[in-house]
Amino acid sequence: MDLKPYIKIVPDWPKPGIKFKDITPLMDNGDAFRYATDQIVEFAKEKEIDLIVGPEARGFIVGCPVAYALGVGFAPVRKDGKLPRETVKVAYGKEYGEDLLTIHKDAVKPGQRVLITDDLLATGGTIEATIKLVEQLGGIVAGIAFLVELSYLNGRSKLDGYDVLTLIPYE
Ligand code: PRP
Repeated sequence: MDLKPYIKIVPDWPKPGIKFKDITPLMDNGDAFRYATDQIVEFAKEKEIDLIVGPEARGFIVGCPVAYALGVGFAPVRKDGKLPRETVKVAYGKEYGEDLLTIHKDAVKPGQRVLITDDLLATGGTIEATIKLVEQLGGIVAGIAFLVELSYLNGRSKLDGYDVLTLIPYE
């Protein structure tokens, strides 16, 4: 199934010059969403995954159906101040300065094999911070899956040595 028609390119959003990749048409189509989920489940199957970890907000949407299909749990990575219990934090580069991503300290158990999910790989800053959080807690990043990759932003360079799946690349 060709998923590209389900990604809508929105010119000049959120600001002039940016061609935003809107994944909501993929998610509100049952066949496309199921197909995309199934591809990630296939990728994950041989990896003995114990847990899915995804950054807010769209990493939740991609990761939760995969967790359900594999029969494993899902742990959210959130922006600072959103999680109610003790967290570990990592700084990551945003367009304007730095921000913090956090995960509950007990969300990943040492030695657990983790699949990280997100909707989109751009500069790779978000996923790099998510990897650091998982590894700080002793988790093993067994795979990383995205719907969309903006290859021209070279986020892959931050993911050397990891097993990465992207379903819809943009050159
Ligand atoms: C977007 C997207 C990825 C990240 C990719 O999330 O959903 O998580 O940016 O960019 P990067 O590879 O350059 O880090 P955003 O930060 O907009 O958060 P949101 O999903 O909560 O809106």
